[in-house]
Amino acid sequence: MTQRVIKRQEILDAFNFRRAIKTFDPTKKISEEDFNVILEAARLSPSSCGIEPWKFLVVQNQEFREKLKEISPGAQGHLPTASHFVIILSRASEDTRYDSEYVKNQWLNVMGVPDEISDQIIEGIRNFQVNQQNLFENEQKALDWAKRQTFLPFANMMTVGALLGIDSCPIEGFYIDKVEKLLAEENLLEDGHLAVSAMVAFGYRANEPAFPRGRKDMKDIVQWIN
Ligand SMILES: Cc1cc2nc3c(=O)[nH]c(=O)nc-3n(C[C@H](O)[C@H](O)[C@H](O)COP(=O)(O)O)c2cc1C
Repeated sequence: MTQRVIKRQEILDAFNFRRAIKTFDPTKKISEEDFNVILEAARLSPSSCGIEPWKFLVVQNQEFREKLKEISPGAQGHLPTASHFVIILSRASEDTRYDSEYVKNQWLNVMGVPDEISDQIIEGIRNFQVNQQNLFENEQKALDWAKRQTFLPFANMMTVGALLGIDSCPIEGFYIDKVEKLLAEENLLEDGHLAVSAMVAFGYRANEPAFPRGRKDMKDIVQWIN
C-alpha cells in the first residue's frame, strides 16, 4: 500500500487553521460524508495492545445537549451551536485487562488472529500490562491508561476536521461525575464498562478567534540529543 504525499504547506496550513473555536455558525452543518471521514480518523487511530478502549457518542439531540450544557461550563457556546458534538468514552479495566472477554474478542474476532496463537498474544499483553506498566495496581491507573489513549482519536478527529476546513474545540470543562451520572441514567455507559474521557465539538466558526495564537518557540520545547 502506498500513500499519496500531502504537501508540507497543506499540513501546516491545516494546523494553523485549527483553533479552539468557542461558538459555531448554527446555520452551517457538516456534511455526512465529511463527518464520516472524521469518525474514520477516530476508528483508525492506534491503541495500546490494539484494544481500542473507546467509544464515541455523537450527541445531536437538542434536549440532551441542554442537559449537558447545565453541567459543562466549558461547553456553553459549543453545545447550542455545534454541527456535531461528540463525547469520547474510555473503557474500564473490566474490559481492558488481558484476561477479559473483551480483549479475547478483540484479538480473535476483531483483529482475526488464529486461535492457536491467541494464548501467546494474551500472555504478551499480560506481561506488558502487569509486569511492565503495573496497570492494575488500582482502577484509576487502568482507567487513566485507557483515557490517555482516547486522546489519539480525539486529536486525529480535530486534525482531520481542519484538513477538511471544519472547525472544532476540545472540551474538558465539565463536571465529570455529573456527566457520567447523566449518561448512566440514559444507559449509555454499558453498566460501568465505559467512563467519560473528553468532549469535542465540530462545526464552522461563527467568528475569528478573539486572540491571535500564542505558542512557545520550537527551541523551548524541543531538545535534540545528538
Ligand atoms: C484537553 C483539552 C481540554 C480543553 N477544554 C476546553 C474547554 O472545556 N472549553 C474550551 O472552550 N476550550 C477548551 N480547550 C481549548 C484550549 O483552551 C485551547 O486549545 C488552547 O487555549 C490553545 O488554543 P488553540 O487550540 O486555539 O491553539 C481545551 C483543550 C484541550 C487540549
